[in-house]
Amino acid sequence: SKKDTRRAVDAYFDDKLHISDETTEAILNKNEEEGLQSIEVASAHGKMLYLMAKMSGAKTILEIGTHGGYSTVWLARALPEDGRLATFEAKQKHARVAEENIAAAGFADRVEIFEGDATKTLRVLKKRGFETFDFIFIDANKDNYPEYLEWALELSRSGTIIVADNIVRKGRIIEEDTERKNIPHLRKFIDLLSEDDRVEATAVQTVGAKGYDGFLLGIVK
Ligand code: DHB
Ligand code: MG
Repeated sequence: SKKDTRRAVDAYFDDKLHISDETTEAILNKNEEEGLQSIEVASAHGKMLYLMAKMSGAKTILEIGTHGGYSTVWLARALPEDGRLATFEAKQKHARVAEENIAAAGFADRVEIFEGDATKTLRVLKKRGFETFDFIFIDANKDNYPEYLEWALELSRSGTIIVADNIVRKGRIIEEDTERKNIPHLRKFIDLLSEDDRVEATAVQTVGAKGYDGFLLGIVK
């Protein structure tokens, strides 16, 4: 089937391009053992985030939506020794699992986890010595994407890269009058970007082992 082919293509590139390794696989295994949903980014997309952060020379990274720390570790790998990553996680258990995964991967010194509802906790960043971020990854509660975008812009400077996961949702993003879970909020997020002349953006549809979805990619002018 098409699904099997897409899965096999992910596996092909994972092998050929040496995408997964012991550390990233250990995180996925631990997340599963701990009962976290398998909603991490695909390995190819984790490496894409790493490459984008590295390509941009990011020294400060903000992640909204830590989950078990899988994408966090991919992003942290792009940081220089003196780089810093702040990641926000609503659920206590996820934050605990992420803390263990991040420490096991050797990034406890560069990564700070902020637990709680990010719409409430993002305000602490300034007090913790974070001013603006070079790279921002949004991958949390979809209903809050509009608010996360406002925060991302607040915490940006000219040249900040903004990436958001899950903006296609099997194509449902184009359903105008749907009440379907998350979609009106994701559409609001896109509308805000549409009306905002501070960000140059594009959308990339993705398929693979994780199904059909996509990324928003943007840079602050
Ligand atoms: C869900 C969340 C995600 O960030 C994702 O990549 C896939 C699914 C979810 O909440 O269902
Ligand atoms: Mg996601």
